[in-house]
Amino acid sequence: NETIRIAIDGPAAAGKSTVAKIVAKKLSYIYIDTGAMYRSLTLKALNKNIDLEDDEKLTDLLVHTDIELKQGERGQNVLVDGKDVSLEIRSNIVTNNVSHVAKHSSVRRDMVKRQQLLAEEKSVVMDGRDIGTHVLPDAEVKIFLIATVEERAKRRYEENLKKGFASNLEELKEEIKQRDQIDSKREAAPLMKADDAIEIDTTSLSIDDVANRILQEVNKLM
Ligand code: C5P
Repeated sequence: NETIRIAIDGPAAAGKSTVAKIVAKKLSYIYIDTGAMYRSLTLKALNKNIDLEDDEKLTDLLVHTDIELKQGERGQNVLVDGKDVSLEIRSNIVTNNVSHVAKHSSVRRDMVKRQQLLAEEKSVVMDGRDIGTHVLPDAEVKIFLIATVEERAKRRYEENLKKGFASNLEELKEEIKQRDQIDSKREAAPLMKADDAIEIDTTSLSIDDVANRILQEVNKLM
């Protein structure tokens, strides 16, 4: 019984988690949302008024933080120290601060260890920024999803509408650009396509197109 690990990386709001969830469900693999882990630490640090530039304090906080990704009926729930924070970690304040927390190499070291443990001897779909390059460098399938920033902002805008709130398209675009910039320019495991990753431009593709394209790659291995 061979395990297959699918790494999905790419810039913010490129549709990684949506597609990852579909692929995981189709294959009955475990879905691991690594962004949710960085968001969880960010939420806790913000609540405790910890300076997000203080890597020592953040790393110490992380050591004392339990992050659980729980597969529920309706997707994944995120529990921090036993408390469900699934909605809170998607708030604007967390989204606009998470890249500052994620840039610290000491924080990443701990997170990567946790992520590797979660994937140990299991077939998984893991999405993030450094999965193909650092977390699972030997992943059997590596995907790098991209889309224009206009398209990504539009998708986020429509997602927000469905959730019941309006947002400013230009503002969303700026926030996405800003996050990509910090994630790509950081020293520790920056957002980057792995040499052996397959790049898929999703700008004019449907969610199902993208999922099927990834499933095709997995089928080649079976
Ligand atoms: O994927 P998501 O948008 O939830 O990720 C939130 C943030 O967490 C990213 O913008 C990035 O700063 C950080 N992240 C990371 N490495 C990962 C996953 C997320 O640095 N593997």
